[in-house]
Amino acid sequence: MTSSLPPLPPLFFSLAFLFLSLAQGLIPKCDTPEHGSTLRVLHVYSPCSPFRPSEPLSWEESVLQMQAKDQARLQFLSSLVAGKSVVPIASGRQVIQSPTYIVRATIGTPPQTMLMAMDTSNDAAWIPCTGCVGCSSAVFDPVKSTTFKTLNCQAAQCKQVPNPTCGGSSCSFNMTYGSSSIAANLSQDTVKLATDDVPGYTFGCIQKSTGSSVPPQGLLGLGRGPLSLLSQTQNLYQSTFSYCLPSFKSPNFSGSLRLGPIGQPKRIKYTQLLRNPRRSSLYYVNLIAIRVGRRVVDIPPSALAFNPVTGAGTIFDSGVVFTRLVQPAYIAVRDAYRKRVGNATVSSLGGFDTCYSVPIASPTITFMFTGMNVTLPPDNLLIHSTAGGITCLAMAAAPDNVNSILNVIANMQQQNHRVLFDVPNSRLGVARELCT
Ligand SMILES: *[C@@H]1O[C@H](CO)[C@@H](O)[C@H](O)[C@H]1NC(C)=O
Ligand SMILES: *[C@@H]1O[C@H](CO)[C@@H](O)[C@H](O)[C@H]1NC(C)=O
Ligand SMILES: *[C@@H]1O[C@H](CO)[C@@H](O)[C@H](O)[C@H]1NC(C)=O
Ligand SMILES: *[C@@H]1O[C@H](CO)[C@@H](O)[C@H](O)[C@H]1NC(C)=O
Ligand SMILES: *[C@@H]1O[C@H](CO)[C@@H](O)[C@H](O)[C@H]1NC(C)=O
Repeated sequence: MTSSLPPLPPLFFSLAFLFLSLAQGLIPKCDTPEHGSTLRVLHVYSPCSPFRPSEPLSWEESVLQMQAKDQARLQFLSSLVAGKSVVPIASGRQVIQSPTYIVRATIGTPPQTMLMAMDTSNDAAWIPCTGCVGCSSAVFDPVKSTTFKTLNCQAAQCKQVPNPTCGGSSCSFNMTYGSSSIAANLSQDTVKLATDDVPGYTFGCIQKSTGSSVPPQGLLGLGRGPLSLLSQTQNLYQSTFSYCLPSFKSPNFSGSLRLGPIGQPKRIKYTQLLRNPRRSSLYYVNLIAIRVGRRVVDIPPSALAFNPVTGAGTIFDSGVVFTRLVQPAYIAVRDAYRKRVGNATVSSLGGFDTCYSVPIASPTITFMFTGMNVTLPPDNLLIHSTAGGITCLAMAAAPDNVNSILNVIANMQQQNHRVLFDVPNSRLGVARELCT
């Protein structure tokens, strides 16, 4: 494959650039300019992503890797719900937990480009900065930006970060993310998203990072808490955005992140967004029942109920790959699914317990929310191995070793749908859309 490529200039022999230029040689679309307030969303394994594995993974490996990442992310989400900042113990293998979808943003004057991970369950933006200990090589260099400044301890924003400390005069903070911990200085600079300039955007300039959970070029939090992008761009975007996440089966497709109320779909079904004052960044919805085919599954109401005190309920999350339901809900759905599929022998693969090695006629699964039924076709429910001929139901029970009270509607189940977050009207919309 490499033999068909022109020789690369020596300058390009850093790993990241090598991947980037290989991808760009094959896929001319990687560089397309963005318009208005719409950013391109790439799967982290896309040919345009510098973070895709250097060796293509086998189907089984990539499924197992995504499951391992999910485990770390679920622990992160549980730590949010529990209100405790715990650093989960990554079991045995190294878990690299960069979230699944990335967007391009530029920071500073003149602009420096970063490919940041999109995370709906986090508020803050963090960017690895020059001199960071434990960050990857692609860092933002504040010294080269004429608009960069560090916030001091008296800044109002300093009161919104967890456990700020005042080393020297700058406002610094430590926090955990997945299996990582970071130390950062609260900073400000101009951020450009598609064609929109956001001057004086407040973010964490990462000085130190341990573990491997922090995305290599930073994180763009789309949660709705105090320091979030939504809060900081209130006038520009009015706390409204939508995304269409491309399927990881077609890594050449890109999706979109559309910021602000302009251009959002008119024909879309909505459900109410619920607010949990203790976990202000999470997007809770009211899941009332689940249907397999036409039959409503018998699930104990407590497994789905929203409870702002314990944090129980259902969230939409862009980072978890496979939907997780608390144990009693998952078992009921899985049993109903198996019954509908019929006699075929059930096997398991990694964390999936409903796999088939013969072709099956899959029923649909419908998530029934207040005011909105979302019926998922087989493409959002099943993962297939072309090589081994295995098909698995791509959902699982919430891990029972953590505080598992949260149902998570994950990104595989959201792929090729437009998901609209309309915070001012407290509603979340879902409509089918092929992201291309
Ligand atoms: C934050 O992390 C830094 C670097 O690891 C450490 O020196 C500092 O003591 C930590 N501060 C707090 C408040 O934990
Ligand atoms: C960032 O914070 C560290 C302490 O965590 C401090 O030593 C350093 O001077 C700060 N950098 C800037 C640019 O303020
Ligand atoms: C993606 O694009 C590359 C290069 O054009 C092509 O070789 C590959 O088959 C495409 N993959 C899919 C899944 O379409
Ligand atoms: C399941 O197996 C039984 C007995 O082998 C057969 O009568 C029945 O039709 C099968 N059901 C399905 C859905 O294939
Ligand atoms: C969802 O589907 C059920 C039938 O299973 C129906 O009774 C209900 O009215 C539907 N809800 C909406 C909002 O369409």
